[in-house]
Amino acid sequence: MADLKTDTSPPAPNWCESTRLLHTGDSAATRLGTEARIVNPPVQRASTVLMPNAASLYSLDQPSYGRLGLGVQAALQTALCELEGAQDVALFSSGAGAITGALMSVLSSGDELLAADGVYRPTRRLCNGTLKRFGVSTRYYPARASVDEIMAMVGPDTRAILLESPASLTFEMQDTPAIAAAARARGLITLIDNTWAAGVLFKPLAAGVDLSIQALTKYVSGASDVFMGSVATSDPRWSQALKTFVLETGWAVSPDDCYTLLRGLRTLPLRLQRHGESALQIAQWLEAQPEVKSVLCPALPSSPDHALWRRDYSGICGLFGVILQPAPPRAVEAFLDRLTLFGLGFSWGGFESLAIHCDPQVQRTARPWLGLGPLVRLHIGLEAPSDLIADLRQGLDVFAAACEGTV
Ligand SMILES: Cc1ncc(COP(=O)(O)O)c(C=O)c1O
Repeated sequence: MADLKTDTSPPAPNWCESTRLLHTGDSAATRLGTEARIVNPPVQRASTVLMPNAASLYSLDQPSYGRLGLGVQAALQTALCELEGAQDVALFSSGAGAITGALMSVLSSGDELLAADGVYRPTRRLCNGTLKRFGVSTRYYPARASVDEIMAMVGPDTRAILLESPASLTFEMQDTPAIAAAARARGLITLIDNTWAAGVLFKPLAAGVDLSIQALTKYVSGASDVFMGSVATSDPRWSQALKTFVLETGWAVSPDDCYTLLRGLRTLPLRLQRHGESALQIAQWLEAQPEVKSVLCPALPSSPDHALWRRDYSGICGLFGVILQPAPPRAVEAFLDRLTLFGLGFSWGGFESLAIHCDPQVQRTARPWLGLGPLVRLHIGLEAPSDLIADLRQGLDVFAAACEGTV
């Protein structure tokens, strides 16, 4: 059996994912002399790389410019390849940047993109703004559209399909493997924003998707203190296109941020399991509360997406939606303001619980969103579920009182 104290060889394929993620991304840079090694890669902060001689200045055999990434960037990329089951991973300075990088790497002027109506709102802004300005048009398909509905929208200029499943804010799911297969048969590229699944709960590349995008800012970090995004692929064409795009546009990620994210990645499966177990318990509890109309979480048997989720996902993360009984905005605000353990904030995936009301930002153009009540999004953190339930209950008491006009 390999001696892990000295072995920096790749993890064995028969190890469980959680074991592989702990022992991947080791690099020669972790060695001290010939015998000893440190656990984490050293952070090399460098723009300038001093080359050993004139002949090596233009050689492609070794890194010669810090922007292209040194040891710790490479270690994170290796670990993310393991997570995504990918041949290659490109890093961007945020999740939004990764979406931009992925789309601009595969699309050209004159191309059309079909995008899920439930994409993350800044993705829609990118499509309707910068991409449009560069000659790429976007049409949106309903967040729960069938494969046939999507394929019926394909036109002569359609080049790619951008999925997000579950949808941002409203959590509708799509049959990703079927869409990827149909798209491939028509020569179309598929991309997915897989941030909700954190690369763990669903494996897009294995499901036939060409490019898997993730905001590492969320669960890979797990601590709400760093931005980064990744695009994973096993197709040499897209791998090359991403490399060229990163090189030509000058994206760079800091070694300190890569170090922080690699550290987060080591504990990702463990944290995600706890987020998911707590989220399910709280979602089930919420479903039984009189102030709640419905809970938008595919792990609940009441969800129209439950069968798809069971088939394709190995669990849930901590993020889901709650539709409250119809109420004036002040009642929803009173509920949120009353919460003490749930912070009011947008960027999820950290160890702490969060809540926002979503109605001001839900934007659907393919099919109107008919939530039939105020929509709140919860992120269930790593606190004890019983404490979170108690916090939600006292918030719902204030909500109920506000609905009756007694506060
Ligand atoms: C689904 C999804 N994708 C991408 C992003 C963007 O990530 P970042 O904040 O790192 O740009 C977010 C952020 O909230 C998100 O929710």
